[in-house]
Amino acid sequence: MSAILEVAGLTRLHGPGCARCVDATGPAAGTNVCPHCGTVVACADVSLTLMRGEVLGVMGESGSGKSSLVRLLYGDDVPTSGSIVYHDARGDKEGGTDLLALNAQQARRLRNRHFGVVYQNPHLGLNFRVSAGGNIAERLLMNGELRYAHIRERAMQLLARCEVPAARMDELPGRFSGGMQQRVQIARALATDPPLLFLDEVTTGLDVSVQARILDLILELQHQLGVSMIAVTHDLGVIRMLAARTIVMKMGRVVETGLTDQILEDPQHPYTQQLVASAL
Ligand SMILES: Nc1ncnc2c1ncn2[C@@H]1O[C@H](COP(=O)(O)OP(=O)(O)OP(=O)(O)O)[C@@H](O)[C@H]1O
Ligand SMILES: [Mg+2]
Ligand SMILES: [Zn+2]
Repeated sequence: MSAILEVAGLTRLHGPGCARCVDATGPAAGTNVCPHCGTVVACADVSLTLMRGEVLGVMGESGSGKSSLVRLLYGDDVPTSGSIVYHDARGDKEGGTDLLALNAQQARRLRNRHFGVVYQNPHLGLNFRVSAGGNIAERLLMNGELRYAHIRERAMQLLARCEVPAARMDELPGRFSGGMQQRVQIARALATDPPLLFLDEVTTGLDVSVQARILDLILELQHQLGVSMIAVTHDLGVIRMLAARTIVMKMGRVVETGLTDQILEDPQHPYTQQLVASAL
């Protein structure tokens, strides 16, 4: 197995920053706000490797930095320091692509083609002013596909695969249920066949039965298409179902990392023990 994404020392500070921000925050300090300068340390020194075809889980309490991490990886936000290297299966150059060294246009092109994202809030991931099919078309257009008939057929295919009835293709997402909106987001994220997907609380807030069907769909995508994924959730049941390996975050730091089964059955870090115990 080879790595698709290698992240090292990823740090994102919100505020003026000072020499002591990182040392004065984190689980041991019990805060993610620097007492010296008031800077919020959204994440600090996060390192991880995602293997090709793997689903890596990210769990942790609210405010632990999970969404911040996803935003940095997807390129919605820029880290204060650290590195992100992406390895393209299709003729990767030796050593991979340093995402943070790309200019804005290169970064946009790479992410449109290679990355997909599904947000907890469908309003962040979908354009509510255009139809379900139009949301998929947008991504294909960004990727240079201009043939109308192709776009329409591809949109229909993707919606079908995500179990959105073809008859609803021309409806606005605002008329859909929450579960259906997530399906359209997944279809949109898959439009360019990206090898890498970021899922941020993709089933949070949905009915249990709807959750189960969306998780099934995600697992199917992983098995059939071999998509690599980073799946953020504070739901241990979701982590158990999706991710073979998991990292646990607290106050912006990774406090534990390992096989999901081991983490859930024999957590090493006191914080993870507490998370697991409180979910029983
Ligand atoms: N733009 C910002 N400015 C200041 N602080 C921010 C900003 N974005 C995030 N933070 C802070 O960074 C910390 C991590 O937030 P983040 O949204 O990553 O947490 P999370 O683990 O996704 O939480 P949740 O489970 O509630 O979604 C929080 O303390 C948050 O308030
Ligand atoms: Mg979040
Ligand atoms: Zn500081």
